[in-house]
Amino acid sequence: MQNKTIKQTVNHVGETVTIGAWLTNKRSSGKIAFLQLRDGTGFIQGIVVKAADEDIFTKAKALTQETSMYVTGLVKADERSPLGVELEVTDIEIIHEAVDYPITPKEHGTEFLMDHRHLWLRSSKQHAQMVIRDQIIRATYEFFHKEGFVQVDAPILTSTSAEGTTELFHTKYFDEDAYLSQSGQLYMEAAAMALGRVYSFGPTFRAEKSKTRRHLIEFWMIEPEMAFCTHEESLAIQEAYVQHLVSSVLEHCSVELQTLNRDPEMLKKILAPFPRITYTKAIELLHEKGFDDIVWGDDFGAPHETAIADHFDLPVFITHYPTSLKAFYMKPDPNNSAVVECADLIAPEGYGEIIGGSARIDDLALMEERYKEHNLDQESYGWYLDLRKYGSVPHAGFGLGLERTVAWIAGIEHVRETIPFPRLLNRLTP
Ligand code: 4AD
Ligand code: MG
Repeated sequence: MQNKTIKQTVNHVGETVTIGAWLTNKRSSGKIAFLQLRDGTGFIQGIVVKAADEDIFTKAKALTQETSMYVTGLVKADERSPLGVELEVTDIEIIHEAVDYPITPKEHGTEFLMDHRHLWLRSSKQHAQMVIRDQIIRATYEFFHKEGFVQVDAPILTSTSAEGTTELFHTKYFDEDAYLSQSGQLYMEAAAMALGRVYSFGPTFRAEKSKTRRHLIEFWMIEPEMAFCTHEESLAIQEAYVQHLVSSVLEHCSVELQTLNRDPEMLKKILAPFPRITYTKAIELLHEKGFDDIVWGDDFGAPHETAIADHFDLPVFITHYPTSLKAFYMKPDPNNSAVVECADLIAPEGYGEIIGGSARIDDLALMEERYKEHNLDQESYGWYLDLRKYGSVPHAGFGLGLERTVAWIAGIEHVRETIPFPRLLNRLTP
């Protein structure tokens, strides 16, 4: 008999199967033991009845948490379990006995759990988040492939900064200075001129001394870039993409959403088109909501973003920010050069900005002007000017932060749980 996974058991009701599994928890009385088993593909309850086999019952009662084993049993339908089946255990073959597993079913503090992240990943809520993350990654490749984008990899070691110089990780590149990439965007602009519609998907680094529920030092970003594309067309792609992510999680991860107590009804409401509000109108809205101190030209903090998002109950695009607040490459609004053709997509429920994007300056003279204003040196950034010299075209793109998106869709308070091994201000281990 071939071993089965827990996920496969649903197709084997009425059959006897063997599963390689770990014990996550157990309960027992004098007559019956309930084993909570996991194998990476899912969780299942094993039932051992003393009257059926006293030796197996004694063995089951002595099992310790995270002991690994081969469990054999009869698969039975069970409506109460999320999976819809349970296992009537007939044999247990211990592989390795775990002694004093540090994470017990009782409550632990976050720092303790983060110190044991390499083990914490085994717990059901963490497992569910990793599965949802995987689904969002898969749905990303699916969506952009269907839309005719080519995936292109951006370098991680760079000589330039894309998003301002204050948050750069510095390193040596032999005798030169180098930085860990904050964004693949500048390279995606070059790639878009070669391949039309492209996207990168890779790790990015921000040496930001922020300790909020939305900030990681190392995070993964999806950065599409499109030649012959306006800001408006980019927004349409963004909302279609986000809707696709949500619907594919709803379709494939119902068990995981249930494990995380995430109400699918909240997610079913996420349908494009999403509302849009200009930065200037958003300032007015904030004044109406009692944020008296904020003035035109100020950046939004988390409470501002949350107030705006709550007003709409859907992801909302805040567009046309003041030029001074945004990166050097953003294209000025042709009707008002004080603002740029950009948008941040703010997720509902306080999850904050999940996308930042814009139209890019395609005019050489204007880009040269920006280089002067931002003191960008010709040696490192010269190649980026070439894109405006040789067949420049209107183009636009955006970056979606994977972890913030997983946090929002899965309903997780803090982004640190949505990445397998988070890098935080005070954490580089494990
Ligand atoms: O708004 P950002 O900084 O935009 C860029 O990097 C552009 N170059 C993207 C582009 O147009 N190609 O970052 C984009 C997104 C944010 O909306 C957010 O979701 C995420 O990346 N992000 C972070 N996620 C976790 N931790 C951090 N410290 C993040 N900083 C940005
Ligand atoms: Mg941003």
